[in-house]
Amino acid sequence: MGLVNTIDLFRHAEKHSYALGAFNVVSLEFLNGILDAAEAVKSPVILNIAEVHFDYVDIEQIYPAIKYMADKACVPVVLNLDHGMSIETVVRALRCGFSAVMYDASKKPLEQNIEETRLVVKMAHSVGVSVEAELGRVGGAEGGAHAAKARCEFFTDPDEAERYVAETGIDALAVSVGNVHGFYDGEPELDFELIAELKRRAGIPLVLHGGSGISDDDFRKAVSLGMRKINFFTEMSKIATDRVRETLERSEHCFIQDLLKEARLVIKEVVMDRMRVFGSAGVCSQAGNICPTGGSCATCSSCSTPERPGNTRLPETTGQGISDSQLSDIVSEVVKNILNQNNS
Ligand code: 13P
Repeated sequence: MGLVNTIDLFRHAEKHSYALGAFNVVSLEFLNGILDAAEAVKSPVILNIAEVHFDYVDIEQIYPAIKYMADKACVPVVLNLDHGMSIETVVRALRCGFSAVMYDASKKPLEQNIEETRLVVKMAHSVGVSVEAELGRVGGAEGGAHAAKARCEFFTDPDEAERYVAETGIDALAVSVGNVHGFYDGEPELDFELIAELKRRAGIPLVLHGGSGISDDDFRKAVSLGMRKINFFTEMSKIATDRVRETLERSEHCFIQDLLKEARLVIKEVVMDRMRVFGSAGVCSQAGNICPTGGSCATCSSCSTPERPGNTRLPETTGQGISDSQLSDIVSEVVKNILNQNNS
């Protein structure tokens, strides 16, 4: 089906009350395991590549493989920059051909977060790429060895959320509601009242980072209150590591390719399981089959009702990267805005 942005997928997820799973890719085993799962359970899927993982994965190198796999896949695939920390990284992802970006200026003062995120939205939307951004602060580190505790002084403020969404034009809001990246120190305690309030005030899809360690019941409740994207990595990576260790211990005559194969298999199992819990399993059909949503699906090729504008496919200019002249227009606009800010 090719790479799509998140806009129609979120619309469909809102209508049918489920969340899209966003799973981090740090190697081809993750890419293949995650896509195997999405196709097996007929779920749309978001592939996250986080800037903190750029040491493990070269986006220009892996992009052609992702594009090739997304074109062949029978489910919609989003390629999302996860926690882009600078405008330069966002431009790099856009040029590469990502179909969605998350810009994270959550550690900066609110005014600066708004200003920079607004610029990112302008750039990304001009080439059909959707934008998620974070307000409040989600602590911890994905894939990190240290457990973290959520701090309520960093929770997302509903007044600020309303203003942030109105002034930036983002498509989805990543919130801090008791969630942290990586392992939790103690039991995670999500603030469900806050989730409901944020959903009401922000009025756009909410995103839950730090999915590892949250119970199935808490996920279901968060989804019922408006979470539409759930990021999940550390637990998947840990389970794959455990499987590799067990395989090594079990068999003396085991080669690296056998270990990588085991990792891919267990990643598939974990992701299928999460997709069932998030409610996204089964919302797509393979080409030619009857869609389980009864023909009202925005995501599969067998549905074409009037409510379905079609997946917001990327314009020809993206997917292959942005052209040099587009890039130069975008960069001059960004520079102009920064100069204006500095002069005012
Ligand atoms: P976990 O690694 O805690 O599952 O979080 C992943 C994440 O939020 C990526 O942005």
